[in-house]
Amino acid sequence: MVGEFKWDYAPAPESKDHVRLEKQYDLFIGGKFVKPLSKKYFATYNPATGEKLAEVAQANEKDVDLAVKAAKAAYDKVWKKMPGKERAKYIYRIARMIQERARELAVIESMDGGKPIRESRDVDVPLAANHFFYYAGWADKLEYAFPNRTPQSLGVAGQIIPWNFPLLMAAWKIAPALAAGNTVVLKPAETTPLTALKLAEIIRDSGLPDGVVNIITGYGDTGAAIVNHPQVNKVAFTGSTQVGKIIQKAIAGTDKKITLELGGKAANIIFEDAALDQAVEGVVNGIFFNQGHVCCAGSRLFVQESVADTVIRKLKQRMETLIVGDPLDKNTDIGAINSKEQLDKINEYIQIGINEGAEMHQSSCSIPAKGYFCKPTLFLHTSQSHRIVQEEIFGPVLAVQTFRTIEEVIEKANNIPYGLSAGVWTDKGSKIFNMTTKMRAGVVWANTYNKFDPASPFGGYKESGFGREGGLHGLAAYLKF
Ligand code: NAI
Ligand code: MG
Repeated sequence: MVGEFKWDYAPAPESKDHVRLEKQYDLFIGGKFVKPLSKKYFATYNPATGEKLAEVAQANEKDVDLAVKAAKAAYDKVWKKMPGKERAKYIYRIARMIQERARELAVIESMDGGKPIRESRDVDVPLAANHFFYYAGWADKLEYAFPNRTPQSLGVAGQIIPWNFPLLMAAWKIAPALAAGNTVVLKPAETTPLTALKLAEIIRDSGLPDGVVNIITGYGDTGAAIVNHPQVNKVAFTGSTQVGKIIQKAIAGTDKKITLELGGKAANIIFEDAALDQAVEGVVNGIFFNQGHVCCAGSRLFVQESVADTVIRKLKQRMETLIVGDPLDKNTDIGAINSKEQLDKINEYIQIGINEGAEMHQSSCSIPAKGYFCKPTLFLHTSQSHRIVQEEIFGPVLAVQTFRTIEEVIEKANNIPYGLSAGVWTDKGSKIFNMTTKMRAGVVWANTYNKFDPASPFGGYKESGFGREGGLHGLAAYLKF
């Protein structure tokens, strides 16, 4: 039955020939790559093959201090005074250079982080360029963006980003900071530092004044040193709720401004009047593509009871056709899990789901023998009290529940510690508006999922964090009035 939907594609690997990686990367401070004072380096690997890709510097507190001082000097001497229209030219140039090097960036993103090339090529890299384009446009129009107020830059922004969208998160953080007139110290995640370092090369080649953007690598202690540095005026963090709480405590009592974008446990809600095939495709896109490594992943599915059997049958069929494997193959839907730690965490949750009594279903696909991979996984007959329903798994694992009435599904969908995003699938506009006002989630997608635009703000409620990125809200987060 399922077989009729399935066929094999010939392998279509993206070439790596044009990719140039150094053996070792230093810290990008004051417009140059400099050796770390720590004298330490650590390796970053390709999670699909286990191959070591490069070594990157491990910044210690003294290195962080140098980076922050470079950012502070660039702020005081150059960037703060530069007219917005001049700042805009640099931001615009960075956007253009990202476009010019798009192929290389996409391949490196997939090699370092494990995400399918289709995703890094069509989503991550173009959106990263678009964020720079978008904010370049605001740099000389701040007083129009915020009429009757006097927007002023903050100073040095310390930015810490995770491994699920390495280049895109760097763009989300750097572009609005520069447009608003701030300088930056950014730290990528330890498993995915390479595209941020490539961005550092682009920034150097763009002629951006030295020290306006500094990019340094390291583990959590490097991030903590950025957060705690007294000359950092603004902290922007995307990552786990656990670290978000540590950061919030660390800056309590200081006048540092902060935005936190943390975890999620989004609900996708399918009503009986929805276009079911599109809805199933949206659900698959929301949780399985990109390995579920998305803070707004639709990891909970609520299906109206009358269509539940149909939807689950269609979902299982679609799961059978998903291709798990080589991230560099253009046919791949689900690439490699980012790290061994993350794969262990996902497998632990799958076991928890089984122990909790939910019914597990996995695609019958094979997964590569080498590297970190996980089959798309469905849990049926789950309930609100299950840990797989309440906690963020950050993997291709979907927990399904059914519902009868709107009131019931709103109550259940909102009844979790998170509130980042949600999806609603229905044919009725009135139902969409009803749902969007009642869902406690920063973003509610209607009849689509995981769609982003630089002009539209993104961020969460409750333990998903606070502050918004993207759009004018994202610009305001880098200004005082
Ligand atoms: P994490 O929150 O530890 O790492 C995110 C970034 O924060 C990294 O750059 C890391 O080096 C840095 N960091 C770690 N400790 C820090 C500290 N004390 N002060 C400042 N910076 C610090 O996330 P991790 O361990 O990689 O993933 C754990 C879980 O977090 C995942 O399984 C997932 O559930 C969630 N997560 C959520 C993300 C999101 O986009 N909301 C992104 C990544 C992970
Ligand atoms: Mg890596």
